[in-house]
Amino acid sequence: MNVSIFGATGATGKLLTERCLKAGYKVKVLAREPGTFPFADRVEAVQGDAKDQNAVRKTVEGADLVLNALGARSLKREEVLEVAVPLIVSAMQEQGIRRIIALGSAGALDSSLDKQSGLRRWIVQHIVYNTFLKWPVASQRAQYAALSGSGLDWTMVMPPMLLNAPARGNLRVDGDALPRDASRIARCDVADFMMAQIGNPEWVGKGVYVAW
Ligand SMILES: NC(=O)c1ccc[n+]([C@@H]2O[C@H](COP(=O)([O-])OP(=O)(O)OC[C@H]3O[C@@H](n4cnc5c(N)ncnc54)[C@H](OP(=O)(O)O)[C@@H]3O)[C@@H](O)[C@H]2O)c1
Repeated sequence: MNVSIFGATGATGKLLTERCLKAGYKVKVLAREPGTFPFADRVEAVQGDAKDQNAVRKTVEGADLVLNALGARSLKREEVLEVAVPLIVSAMQEQGIRRIIALGSAGALDSSLDKQSGLRRWIVQHIVYNTFLKWPVASQRAQYAALSGSGLDWTMVMPPMLLNAPARGNLRVDGDALPRDASRIARCDVADFMMAQIGNPEWVGKGVYVAW
């Protein structure tokens, strides 16, 4: 299987790359600085920026599956997902590639907090999503809009805060909203869940919340 990975050099992207290589997949990545990528000798790297249409097209070329773990490197307005996800979608449409599994975040949809208590919902919405996570949340909303309108076989995995912690394996998975009182999950668990979606029809065409 040929897998193209966006955001492969990031914290979750490296975990996805490692898992794809372990599974024996042929991996192509888009990297701004491929020379510093720890798996550089085991993947095909396209050097470039995710906001560049040609670089995105080249990365997607020949893929059976696309994984996206892109995200801004700061909490400022970078518009990475706003620009890159529509480019990925149109490159996939042009090339007849159907399946994309993307890392999103809880907060991408208004209904994400529906299972929280009133107080918790107010705090997360007003003190987190509307303030310091304002731009990441806006980017994830844009990613959701681009994927859900794409006509592709998309899945957007929507975790709360990501931790660099060991996997626990016992996730809560919910298609409607973030599970009650959920606030964290390890990147390893998210990467394992994303890998488990390869060949799984259950969450195709859907966003899915995952959390400890
Ligand atoms: N942090 C959290 O608690 C949290 C919670 C829920 C969801 N999320 C979402 O999870 C996603 C990934 O998070 P993460 O912490 O695993 O990632 P990360 O370590 O911040 O890595 C981001 C990746 O995106 C790449 N990237 C950014 N701008 C790019 C551009 N213009 N062109 C090409 N590549 C670009 C980076 O490449 P370089 O190596 O070149 O910089 C890197 O590979 C994000 O979308 C984030 O919103 C995060």
